[in-house]
Amino acid sequence: MLEPTIINSPIVSNPASATEEQPSVLHIWGRTPLQGHVAISGAKNSALAIMAGALLCPQDCRLHNLPWLVDINRMIQLLAALGLKLNRQGDVLDIDSSSLSTSQAPYELVSQMRASFFVIGPLVARLGMASVPLPGGCAIGARPVDLHVRGLQALGAEVRIEHGLVHACINERRGRLKGAKIYLDYPSVGATETILMAATLADGETLIENAAQEPEIVDLANFCRAMGANIQGAGTKTIAVSGVDHLHSVEYSVIPDRIEAGTFLVAAAITGSELLLSPVIPEHLAPAIAKLREIGLQIRLETPDCLRILPGELRATDIETRPFPGFPTDMQAQFMALLAISEGNSVVSETVFENRLHHVAELKRMGADIRVKGNHAFVTGVPRLSGAPVQGTDLRAAAALVVAGLAAEGKTEVGGLQHLDRGYDNLEGKLRQLGAKIERVQAPPSNVTPA
Ligand code: EPZ
Repeated sequence: MLEPTIINSPIVSNPASATEEQPSVLHIWGRTPLQGHVAISGAKNSALAIMAGALLCPQDCRLHNLPWLVDINRMIQLLAALGLKLNRQGDVLDIDSSSLSTSQAPYELVSQMRASFFVIGPLVARLGMASVPLPGGCAIGARPVDLHVRGLQALGAEVRIEHGLVHACINERRGRLKGAKIYLDYPSVGATETILMAATLADGETLIENAAQEPEIVDLANFCRAMGANIQGAGTKTIAVSGVDHLHSVEYSVIPDRIEAGTFLVAAAITGSELLLSPVIPEHLAPAIAKLREIGLQIRLETPDCLRILPGELRATDIETRPFPGFPTDMQAQFMALLAISEGNSVVSETVFENRLHHVAELKRMGADIRVKGNHAFVTGVPRLSGAPVQGTDLRAAAALVVAGLAAEGKTEVGGLQHLDRGYDNLEGKLRQLGAKIERVQAPPSNVTPA
């Protein structure tokens, strides 16, 4: 049994990254080659789902390899608001769910982070009810939750949406969710996770068809199985869950972040650098590695969890984002920055989100030659980008502008770090340690006086 020292959660933040109150910008002086080894942090999109999954267990659990991110802090705040006791020491997070005291997730926390919606499945499964605010849309799309809702209804929850709140409950008579066969119209990552978590405590068998196959689904399933859940098929299109009566304490380590690793691979490729990256799980990076090799980079497996990338002539290629094992939408922006200086004409098609090409306008400010028609971007490689002040409008767009700045002639100032800090653990510190000329400075006071 774990004996964590549990105190109510102090919201901690990594001193190296901005907090939300103090806006800042990154100054980058480009065309400095990188060298050395970069350590990859734990996966944001796995950690957030697993933290919600901890609600399923009425005891405590200990998570390892948690990254230092604003979104992780927000999830800590949300779980604490639900009554849980949490304590973070370094990359270890202790969560005691025995003190879960409410099924109402506060609006001010859910509205800041879509992943907060992941608590609805565990709350209904554990308490028989949940009230969670509808997560708003964001820069990349409307981000509906209809597939989550339909999944919970298929499991026997009564769901109604009013005043911006999703109320889900199990009617008294039944008292427990009931296993069901569910077909997802779209292999939604979040909906697969909501249904998977709720089904672990349902009465009977659940089959999720057309399920998402992302590595983060497998990590969440492995975490739930470590707590005693009965899950088969995670990582394939069909997941089978046989409900159990209760789950138990567990100590679990989150997988490395494949999107952070992919971002560093692009940083190496765009600056013509040789880099070592670890820990990684190579099969999680298969689509990105295949595309980098098509573009002309050499990538070698040094050890089972360490990749080496070597420079190469950059050639155009086409990219179409798809659910895993297709090319990940979360690496589309970063790869577009690379294709902006790759010889020839590339077509980048974003098929997962309806509005995830905002970074094009900013890359064009840096001299990129890109035309957008619908969800397609037509990129003609230019010899060199030029530094400019640019603004990140979502997490991965901001990352794309950072890697573009590493390759650009002169100085680039990247704003919108409130997005970047949601998903990257001290990105500028890791890049500086590789030799990049990059620093985070306080944003100059706005000279626009309020009307
Ligand atoms: C997860 O978001 C990730 N976030 C996203 O990462 C990632 O881009 C996305 O999966 C796709 O891989 C977390 O895991 C916290 P979806 P999620 O449900 O679950 C539509 C990042 O940069 N849809 O697979 O919200 C939806 O509108 C972030 O780290 C419905 O229509 O993604 C979208 O077009 C960004 N109805 C598509 O499916 C629903 O009920 C894919 O969404 C749910 C989704």
